[in-house]
Amino acid sequence: MKKYLVIGNPIEHSLSPILHNYWIKKNNIDAIYEKKLLEEKELEILCKEVREGKIEGLNVTVPFKEKIIKYMDILSEDASSSKAVNTVYKLSRGGENKLIGDNTDIYGFKKSLPIVFRTTGHGSCGAIILGAGGASRAIIIALGHLGIDTFAIINRTKDKAKKLMQEINPEKYDPDLIYSWCKDEDRMFNTKPRIIVNCTSLGLKKDDKISLDFSKYKKNIFNKDIIFYDLIYNPAETNFLKKAKETGQEAINGKMMFIYQAQQSFKKWHNVLPDVNQEVIDLLDD
Ligand code: ATR
Repeated sequence: MKKYLVIGNPIEHSLSPILHNYWIKKNNIDAIYEKKLLEEKELEILCKEVREGKIEGLNVTVPFKEKIIKYMDILSEDASSSKAVNTVYKLSRGGENKLIGDNTDIYGFKKSLPIVFRTTGHGSCGAIILGAGGASRAIIIALGHLGIDTFAIINRTKDKAKKLMQEINPEKYDPDLIYSWCKDEDRMFNTKPRIIVNCTSLGLKKDDKISLDFSKYKKNIFNKDIIFYDLIYNPAETNFLKKAKETGQEAINGKMMFIYQAQQSFKKWHNVLPDVNQEVIDLLDD
C-alpha cells in the first residue's frame, strides 16, 4: 500500500487526510494518507524516505514550504517562481528517483476566487498580503497572474517581507509598501486594495485574535469590492474574517483553495483528477 503524508508544525488542524482518503477510496486506489507532526531537523531524513520509496509523496504546510526546497531535485515552474513547495512527488530518471517540488496552492487559490475578480483586468489593482512565509509567496504569484500589480505586505518581521518581495518580484519591489505588523497599518490601507489575504498562521487557533482594526476604514477607504480572504479553512471563520464581515465586506475562507490544491496534488500522485462536488465540500464541515 502506497503511503502519503502531510507534514507541518502544527499539523493537528489539517483536514488533508480526510479529503485524500475519501478520494483514494472513491477511486479504488491502494494507498493511505496520514498527517505527521515534524521538527525541522527531521525534514532531510523524511525526503530521503520519499526518494527510497518508503513514502510515495508529501504535502507540505507551515512552516516547511520554503525549508524543504533544498532537498528537492527539480522544482516545477510554480514552485520555482514562488520559492515555495506544497507538494512533493517522484519521477524515475535513469533508474533513480528524483524528487519534484511543486506548488499547487497557486492553482488552488486562482480557481477558488470569485469570477468577478478573475475577470477584472483594467487599471492598477492592489492587494494587501498579511504574512511573508511560503504561503504568501504563492498568493503573490497567483495574484500577479490575475492582474494585481501593487502589493503591500505586512509582516511581524519586516525584513522577511522585504526579502520576499526582492526575491519573487524585484521589479515591483517598493520598500514603502512593506509594513511592520500593527505599526504602519494606516499607511498600508492607503493602497486601496481590491483584496486582503491573510497568509499568516494567526487564526489557526480558535482564540487567535488579529490585531488589525478594519472598522475605522469602513466609510473612508474600503469600497464594497474588497475581498477579505483567509487561507485558513479550519476554523471556518477566523477572527480576521469575522472582522471583515462586521465591516460588510466579502469574506472567503481557504476551504475551496484547499480542495483545489488537494485535487491537483492528487492528480500528480495518482494520475486521476478526483471530483470536486458538494459531497466533497460537505465532507470538510465540522
Ligand atoms: P508558511 O510557509 O505556511 O507560509 P511560515 O513560513 O512559517 O509558514 O510563515 C508563517 C507566517 O505567519 C509568517 O509571515 C509569520 O510571521 P514572521 O515572518 O514574523 O514569523 C506569520 N505569523 C505566525 N505567527 C504569527 C503571529 N502570532 N502574529 C503575526 N504573524 C504571525
